[in-house]
Amino acid sequence: MIRCVSCGEEYDDDEVIYTCEKCGSVLELVNDIDVSKDIFDGRKDNLWKFKECIPVDESKIVSLNEGGTPFCKCDKLGEELGVNLYVKVEGSNPTGSFKDRGMTVGMTKAMELGVNTVGCASTGNTSASLSAYAARAGLRCIVFLPSGKVALGKLAQAMFHGAEVMSINGNFDEALEAMTALALEKHLYLLNSINPYRLEGQKTIGYEIVRDLGWQAPDRIVLPVGNAGNISAIWKGVKEFYDAGFIKDLPMMTGIQAEGACPVTNAFKKGDKRVVPVENPETIATAIRIGAPVSDIKALNAIYDSNGYSQTVSDEEILDAQKLLARTEGIGVEPASAASIAGLKKLVDEGVVDKGETVTCVVTGHLLKDPNTAIDACTKPTEVDADIDTLRKILLEK
Ligand code: F0G
Repeated sequence: MIRCVSCGEEYDDDEVIYTCEKCGSVLELVNDIDVSKDIFDGRKDNLWKFKECIPVDESKIVSLNEGGTPFCKCDKLGEELGVNLYVKVEGSNPTGSFKDRGMTVGMTKAMELGVNTVGCASTGNTSASLSAYAARAGLRCIVFLPSGKVALGKLAQAMFHGAEVMSINGNFDEALEAMTALALEKHLYLLNSINPYRLEGQKTIGYEIVRDLGWQAPDRIVLPVGNAGNISAIWKGVKEFYDAGFIKDLPMMTGIQAEGACPVTNAFKKGDKRVVPVENPETIATAIRIGAPVSDIKALNAIYDSNGYSQTVSDEEILDAQKLLARTEGIGVEPASAASIAGLKKLVDEGVVDKGETVTCVVTGHLLKDPNTAIDACTKPTEVDADIDTLRKILLEK
């Protein structure tokens, strides 16, 4: 069953509907877990090991083997920050971001519904993922990208997998509005995170974190927030496992935004339940360059209900954290993902996060998504002839 998160109106699972017809709010799938957690044991470690908890037709699955991503204990960085740190590496998904979790479920639903065209607006990763899954499913795929603001790796993916790519003169929020209008006119099936089936895939990040900790919740889950779907999804996942009795505690959901694109943090600091859109969002972390997040209600509920928090970080803090994670722990992530590490550092400094807390940072996309930013952050390689004397001089006689 699909239910409105605000007024509770209910809809059938097979209705193609993105917002509540009564009150306009966002929708969610309602599932009861009626299996024992033992049934997951011994299955291949990908998202579909949790298939009983994902409300789509198993015979229609479109998958590239997503999920089951590395869960890295980061002792060196943890010690530096004063917490017991784990990093969930979502860049290890098939197209290099967590979006693949949402897309395998969303595309499976598209096959169930028998649609022939799918679409999304995107800051990059959603389009990269959708293009790949649409290719696998054999469906027409249309993506809208904000002109000049999409990181190179993501653009390459969307184009290479054969999507019809529109470079929109406008920002993400404007591109999404246009894409949504086409979806409401029924020209295509919308696979942005306003589609509740997307979040049914992404909630498995929450499932895996508590499973990887030996059926325990961390004290806190920290992640970047853009359109606000992922924080909502992960909270749904951990709550489902809590309600099923698989874990005894819940984590504090902690959403990090860039200073120039922080409607959720602004609302949290005022204690509001809705955001006031940020007109011209700007940040080097283009993935989260979003001013009007569609899942604001769900995300703020997650933060309030979990006794969580939201904070902003500057572009400089993001880039510093990106390098710190790469050079201390060997984990390469794109700028938006590093917001989680930057935010954790800031919240420890501010005393919001207690020393010794067990914290999981979700890093959402791979370093190679945004090669230009990575290269700009480094000094150029030294150009030199393949001459042993010169090399000896440079490398050994420093
Ligand atoms: N991190 C990365 C790498 C992302 O690509 C996104 C969102 C987020 C974090 C934020 O997640 O929107 O669920 O709060 N990217 C979308 C896209 C908007 O189009 O690829 P969110």
